[in-house]
Amino acid sequence: MPITTYVFDAYGTLFDVGAAAAQAAAEPEHEALSKVWPSIARDWRLKQLQYTWLRAVADQHCDFWQVTQDGLDWALEANGLTSPATRTRLLELYWELAAYPEVPKMLATLKARGMATAILSNGSPDMLNGAVSSAGIGDVLDAVLSVQDVGVFKPDTRVYDLVGKHFGCAPDEVLFVSSNGWDAAGAAAYGFQTVWVNRAGEPMDRLYGTPSHVLNDLTTIPDFT
Ligand code: LAC
Repeated sequence: MPITTYVFDAYGTLFDVGAAAAQAAAEPEHEALSKVWPSIARDWRLKQLQYTWLRAVADQHCDFWQVTQDGLDWALEANGLTSPATRTRLLELYWELAAYPEVPKMLATLKARGMATAILSNGSPDMLNGAVSSAGIGDVLDAVLSVQDVGVFKPDTRVYDLVGKHFGCAPDEVLFVSSNGWDAAGAAAYGFQTVWVNRAGEPMDRLYGTPSHVLNDLTTIPDFT
């Protein structure tokens, strides 16, 4: 089927989640981050995601903001940082993450062609609205869909159901784009056409679905029709 609907994961796909730790590390009052920020960024992201998966299997759903804070607390402790001001600053920056540079033009190209565009994310609506507005991409997105509406995190299929419910489209009319290999795998198994954006050159996840395409960034997404 021709693609009618382009759906993007948010964190790590449209928004650079490493940017918060990198930016805080450059601020003099958070100098303690200067050596450990890459490790903080990695541990924070990994724990945040692990907590979503564990909460999904244990039926212990919570707001994504909760696992974002819990993951950061684990990462700060693991890296020996105790400053409450640094914790506060890192969390504040999560609400205003930069979009990757190619994102605004890519979304504008899709909209100019009359395609439907959306975010489908674990993020809560208020977190997502903060990031969308600080990145200035609200005008080129038709919908911001949050797992909050189904009360479970990705890759539960009830999350992917939100796309068809919102747009009335069939799964194979959707191009789902994620930088998370496990999310791309889950979406591929669900029946979406799928792109895994592998910026870091990681090995493919060995899971129950295989993305149809692998890219280094989002520039050529409008070429998929
Ligand atoms: C999201 C996370 C998984 O935006 O990146 O859903």
